Amino acid sequence: RFDDIRPKIEQHIREVKDFPKKGINFRDIMPLFTNPQLVNELCVVIADHVRHTVGHVDSVAGLEARGFLFGPQVAIQLGVPFVPIRKKGKLPGATIEAAYIKEYGEDRVEIQQGSIKTGDTVFLIDDLLATGGTLRAASDLVVKAGGKVGEAFVIIELAPLNGRAKLPDIKLTSLISYD
Ligand code: PRP
Ligand code: ADE
Repeated sequence: RFDDIRPKIEQHIREVKDFPKKGINFRDIMPLFTNPQLVNELCVVIADHVRHTVGHVDSVAGLEARGFLFGPQVAIQLGVPFVPIRKKGKLPGATIEAAYIKEYGEDRVEIQQGSIKTGDTVFLIDDLLATGGTLRAASDLVVKAGGKVGEAFVIIELAPLNGRAKLPDIKLTSLISYD
């Protein structure tokens, strides 16, 4: 099913050179949302992949901001809760946080306490893997909360940035990989 949908998704990803700064080849996933039927098809295919390849998951966790475009739809397909992972300071109440290194300096992501329970298997989803810092922190957060990552999934992998090397302990699947 991934093989059928891959070329259709590829057609909807726009390459923007020198955004947000010089030297960055930005892969814009937003044009996909001009085609709601294809977005739905993609989320159904991802949910099927979870059922057949990952097995039972207790929740789907998505990363702010673009993981929120897919995570809730996949969670609805699977009939499990969606857990938002947000940048620090956005979620009210008690939270658990994990730090990660960005190109310049450090950032933090958070989940609400109680949103992942001890022993939970979590399916992690984001739009894109670059250096891997974001998914590394998200995975650390799941483990800190007492859960385990069933799989991490991205639509787009920027292979030369070698984000996979930061995630040796996690099963990582990408739909499209760019060299
Ligand atoms: C992008 C992307 C991933 C992250 C990947 O988000 O949506 O979440 O970068 O990069 P990494 O693998 O090097 O960590 P960004 O940080 O641009 O923020 P946004 O979600 O607010 O657009
Ligand atoms: N996030 C980090 N690097 C990116 C890129 N090259 N394109 C789109 N989103 C990104």
